[in-house]
Amino acid sequence: MLRTRRLGKLTVSSIGLGCMGFSHGYGPTPEETESIRLMRLAYEEFGCTLFDTAEVYGTFANETLVGKAIKPIRDKIVLTTKFMPLALPGQDYPEGKLSRKGLRSALEGSLKRLQTDHIDLYYEHRVPIESDPAEIAGWMGELIAEGKILAWGMSEPTVEQLRIAHAITPVTSVQNEYSMMQRRAEQGMLETCEELGIGFESYSPLAGGFLSGKYTASTIFTGDDVRRVITRFAKENITANQPLLDLLEETAKEDNATPAQIALRWLLKKKPWIVPICGMRSESRMKENFGADCADLSNESFERLEKALSCIKIFGDRKDSDIAKLGTVKSVCVV
Ligand SMILES: NC(=O)c1ccc[n+]([C@@H]2O[C@H](COP(=O)([O-])OP(=O)(O)OC[C@H]3O[C@@H](n4cnc5c(N)ncnc54)[C@H](OP(=O)(O)O)[C@@H]3O)[C@@H](O)[C@H]2O)c1
Repeated sequence: MLRTRRLGKLTVSSIGLGCMGFSHGYGPTPEETESIRLMRLAYEEFGCTLFDTAEVYGTFANETLVGKAIKPIRDKIVLTTKFMPLALPGQDYPEGKLSRKGLRSALEGSLKRLQTDHIDLYYEHRVPIESDPAEIAGWMGELIAEGKILAWGMSEPTVEQLRIAHAITPVTSVQNEYSMMQRRAEQGMLETCEELGIGFESYSPLAGGFLSGKYTASTIFTGDDVRRVITRFAKENITANQPLLDLLEETAKEDNATPAQIALRWLLKKKPWIVPICGMRSESRMKENFGADCADLSNESFERLEKALSCIKIFGDRKDSDIAKLGTVKSVCVV
């Protein structure tokens, strides 16, 4: 069973379940009954108590699916969903989506689809540079006071936006991309979270699966799979990033683990308030990824990894602007 961690004021399992892939972003999805079975299994078999979705995933479909799956375990888990600050299909707000009314109306839609009367942690999915973080923090504060959300968070804010917002309504968690392949969070964001007592959910902790070492230059990605367009999975970059996979493989052998488990243990070792959320759609992947928490990385292995990583150049990235080229996300703020 997974251990627990503090994520701001919330207590959650040390690794969360990113539910996006059950509807969106990683190609063909399992049958609905299988997706529901797997989501329930994450709680029942592995003790996962953090489930992440968003209104934009599958344009509302993922929330509907997650709502069905978590119904019997709703009061046992921490449910996070996200508000996209741009209108999605069917959302028509003359005053703009990023408005008090737009936020409330989007939340009502999420509550209905998720079959619940409150969201445990409600994220602003992107923080447009022209927006006023203090204003949205005020609106989120009202929703907390009304009990419609228990806590709020920001996904991919700047440090400055986070500070402004936090001063109005304390932010419980930041949800940013963070992994061995994408370490932007180390440029001030983690430091700020630590200073302000804010938790941190790392999304794409396995860099879209790359860090498992199971994808090669000949792997074919289809449909809405973002790996068709993100440069991290460009054939030449898969090859160029081999030194990172070699390092993971080597450490995994020494620690009797898998490369994916080492990549997750490295994140867990970074700070006790970092919670990786993995996307996984099979029992075997759940066993592998949740199994990462059954042991800690030793100080010695961690230091050795840090030293080696500082000498490895990373090729390619995961950018919203590249994902937008697929045309499968109907509304997106490019960061
Ligand atoms: N806030 C944001 O802007 C944002 C952005 C992206 C994602 N998210 C959230 O974060 C969650 C996680 O992100 P992510 O899905 O990109 O994370 P990820 O775990 O880094 O990548 C998921 C991909 O890796 C594969 N994978 C996972 N474990 C594996 C293993 N042990 N071996 C081989 N392949 C493995 C999965 O395969 P299968 O699915 O086929 O099993 C899936 O294709 C999402 O589900 C979503 O809830 C948030």
